[in-house]
Amino acid sequence: MKSRELKGRTALVTGGGSGIGRACAEALAEAGALVHIVDRDADAAKSVAAGTGGVSHAVDLADAGAVDRLPADIDILVNNAGLQHVAAIEDFPPERFELIQKVMLTAPFLLMRHCLPHMYAGGWGRVVNISSMHGLRASAFKSAYVAAKHGLEGLSKVAALEGAPHGVTSNCVNPGYVRTPLVEGQIAAQAVAHGIPADEVVSDVLLDRSAIKRLIEPAEVAAVCVWLCGADTGYITGSSIPVDGGWGAR
Ligand SMILES: NC(=O)c1ccc[n+]([C@@H]2O[C@H](COP(=O)([O-])OP(=O)(O)OC[C@H]3O[C@@H](n4cnc5c(N)ncnc54)[C@H](O)[C@@H]3O)[C@@H](O)[C@H]2O)c1
Repeated sequence: MKSRELKGRTALVTGGGSGIGRACAEALAEAGALVHIVDRDADAAKSVAAGTGGVSHAVDLADAGAVDRLPADIDILVNNAGLQHVAAIEDFPPERFELIQKVMLTAPFLLMRHCLPHMYAGGWGRVVNISSMHGLRASAFKSAYVAAKHGLEGLSKVAALEGAPHGVTSNCVNPGYVRTPLVEGQIAAQAVAHGIPADEVVSDVLLDRSAIKRLIEPAEVAAVCVWLCGADTGYITGSSIPVDGGWGAR
């Protein structure tokens, strides 16, 4: 991407207070965009906004009405906020399943509904959905997450078809395991679910299918997000781009 190529563009990143969302907010700001950072963690959102010259919004995306209070004049929408719960289907709390669908599937839909009219009016827009390899593949004990990410893949493709005549692309980015608090929090839960010590979870469970035996850095995912917003990728839409260390090659 050319230096400051996104100058004059406005982005909104959900879950921008931590991990991949934070890295996307920083990379988009570095490319010149004004970034709105949306997170239920007010302090984290404020801190990223202070570091990027952006604007913070303390919002719980499980609350459907909250989306209407966010700005709609957005050129780049990064649907990233997410959470995980690891349990067998028969033990999975239904309210936790529903929360994960609300945050990771319904909120992206509501935000597209909110922001697409502005993108269509300007004849340009980018929707980047931070999906996962779990949008393309399943793992045991992750029913809610895998269901939500597979749903996000479908939503992204529909947005690609509807957005094409208006200069709007929609794509998914599909990371394997990224070094973030979300993954760190899973290690203990996976140890219980699989009945193995926590130190074996990274090597034997998380990276079992990855050819490259290291966690991905958040900036490596953010680089793909920014690339999808640049001038050279206007023909890429309805796609799912793995950042997976070879997991999908198996
Ligand atoms: N870390 C990984 O290995 C990995 C791999 C593939 C995909 N992903 C996806 O990347 C995205 C970001 O994950 P991460 O690893 O950076 O996680 P993270 O826990 O570091 O960050 C997630 C952010 O989302 C925010 N958030 C959660 N629920 C929210 C809600 N209801 N309303 C508003 N904000 C909320 C959190 O406060 C947090 O700041 C998720 O969609 C996740 O599924 C992560």
